[in-house]
Amino acid sequence: MKIAVITGASSGLGKEFTKQISKKVKGLDELWIIARREEKLIQLKESIKHIKCRVMPLDLIQKESFVEYERLLEKYSPKICMLINNAGYGKIGSFETIDIDEQLNMIELNNKSIVKITRSSLPYLYNNARIIQVASSAGFMPQPGFSVYAATKAFVISFGRGLNQELKDKNIKITSVCPGPVRTEFFDVAGGDVSMSIKKMAMVEADQVVAKALKDSAKGKEISTYGTLMNAFKIVAKIVPHSLILKQVNYYNSRDKE
Ligand SMILES: NC(=O)c1ccc[n+]([C@@H]2O[C@H](COP(=O)([O-])OP(=O)(O)OC[C@H]3O[C@@H](n4cnc5c(N)ncnc54)[C@H](OP(=O)(O)O)[C@@H]3O)[C@@H](O)[C@H]2O)c1
Repeated sequence: MKIAVITGASSGLGKEFTKQISKKVKGLDELWIIARREEKLIQLKESIKHIKCRVMPLDLIQKESFVEYERLLEKYSPKICMLINNAGYGKIGSFETIDIDEQLNMIELNNKSIVKITRSSLPYLYNNARIIQVASSAGFMPQPGFSVYAATKAFVISFGRGLNQELKDKNIKITSVCPGPVRTEFFDVAGGDVSMSIKKMAMVEADQVVAKALKDSAKGKEISTYGTLMNAFKIVAKIVPHSLILKQVNYYNSRDKE
């Protein structure tokens, strides 16, 4: 049985990955869709007619969820053709004011759950399989006011790069998707006052980011960015010293607050 596993499938980018993979990736028997909100996963399953979706209501912050995931892998022994590590969240605000448990859970979900699910999936990954991990352009450099989130996403990018080398012999390729702001439920969860800065930066649609990510993954690209702005940011963050960029960011942030 050939499958794709998609985490965070109940909304936003994960839901879009599920829809597009169901149409574009040939030869799959099932999509395993994971998130906490079971009713949203059931709605998604019902909207996809041509391929079976297995609803897996799991909280990826809880250890027991991985026991259940591994139990299902053992039971069905599937060939995983695609693993989409997408579930994640961010919290906007100063490190000092954001609840510490919310920050630690962010690390738990954005980082530890990716490492865990990738490791559990590894024995089942098909030759030539693809792993897509949703990082963020926030991972390109430190982000004051978004410090822990940006650090979690830098981890994802680095993890993907390292793993790409390690898994070369198995012909498995990892693509880290690095979008800027995308119109999803992300900002409802993130809180903070983002209106000014986000309005200035163009918000993009989830379907476009996902379409580009699937194309880049098929080509075996290590990083997937969508849009001129984020491509430019990636280059700037690579060549301009981060201390200089951070000076500018601090200047604009303090102007926004006035
Ligand atoms: N939107 C943006 O601007 C943006 C930009 C760059 C990167 N990203 C990244 O894109 C990814 C997807 O986010 P999104 O924008 O699509 O936001 P979203 O609509 O809020 O989706 C987040 C998904 O993660 C799932 N999730 C959250 N906590 C979970 C947990 N403990 N266990 C299992 N699933 C959990 C949510 O499902 P349940 O609530 O049902 O569990 C939901 O399906 C995240 O990794 C995010 O960091 C987003």
